[in-house]
Amino acid sequence: MKKGWRKFTLLLIVTMLAVFLAACSSSGTSGSAGVDVGIVLPTKDEPRWVQDEQRFKDALADSDYTTEILFSQGSSAKEKENVETLISKGIEVLIISPHDGAAAGAAVEAAKKEGITVIAYDRLITETDAVDYYVTFDSVSVGAAQGQYLIDHTEGNGVPLYLYAGASSDNNAFLFFEGAWSVLQPKIADGTFVIANSSVAESLKDKAELTRDEMGQILGQVTTNWDPNEAKNKAQTHLTAVGADLKGDVVILAPNDGTARAIADVFATDSDITSYVVTGQDAEKASIQYIIDGKQSMTVFKDVRTLVKDAMGMAVTILEGETPETTGTYDNGSIEVKAKQTDVIVVNQDNVKAELIDSGYYEASEFTGLD
Ligand code: BGC
Repeated sequence: MKKGWRKFTLLLIVTMLAVFLAACSSSGTSGSAGVDVGIVLPTKDEPRWVQDEQRFKDALADSDYTTEILFSQGSSAKEKENVETLISKGIEVLIISPHDGAAAGAAVEAAKKEGITVIAYDRLITETDAVDYYVTFDSVSVGAAQGQYLIDHTEGNGVPLYLYAGASSDNNAFLFFEGAWSVLQPKIADGTFVIANSSVAESLKDKAELTRDEMGQILGQVTTNWDPNEAKNKAQTHLTAVGADLKGDVVILAPNDGTARAIADVFATDSDITSYVVTGQDAEKASIQYIIDGKQSMTVFKDVRTLVKDAMGMAVTILEGETPETTGTYDNGSIEVKAKQTDVIVVNQDNVKAELIDSGYYEASEFTGLD
């Protein structure tokens, strides 16, 4: 009996020691157990967000704070689980780019209850007061730059315009479309462009400013859901449905690079399309190659290094007990969220080398035909 107890006590001591050592080894550079800053990104399936992960890792290489990055894989349930995991690790700041801006409310409310400061990253979290800050690119100007590019690269009148948009669950999809519409609408109203694939947009062509509900109805017809496959299928359906008058030289508003490449591939294989101008955004490597090869016309370069720097800078300021600097506010449907906004750059064949290679964003060796 006595011997048994001794054995048990020894086992207990060994177990406690093991737990203690494990806690020490996961404490990272901050010296305290757990994680200081939790980062949650929407999906690993799009190069855009893998790029953000890499830029976060680069920026954190010599940080004094511990961080952990988790991906939600396009699921709000997984996103909530990720936030809960990070809460249990004792985070003080949560940086989160939601899969679905409204559905993420529940996740950030859980964080807020624990006294965690919430920073929305690139995508706003809507309809909740549980978001403290927002770091973002100027998304309305992304859409305006895309629309303006189509205008500047069009000749003549009655040019068919194909509209595509992002996912309605992403607030940015509305901001991009709002920006694009602000410059395209006068050119649709005066007959420069003829909308080829949205009866709702066609019926609203004389309205300079659309309500969110009106934009929602257009998105309902032309959304890609940020999915290149859906974009490809929609483009095929549209080209099958239209007559010869809506082919020839055309222009395409594509919301981002992943969908732009999918849509461009469909248009390139239609023998009745003689030329197309297509927009994009994100400066994804594959799209930079498409631009060099003349298969995609432009991209809107959003320098993720700056966004990461802003988000981490904000997090560190908060950890040090100070108040971060902001440059404006965004209405999320519930409160005015304090925001820090970054500008974007239009890239096409003319400046791709200067903006993306000479700036050190990518290596020249990652591309072919770059001169
Ligand atoms: C981001 C874009 C991205 C898109 C799809 C948007 O919220 O701002 O950069 O291409 O989501 O993931």
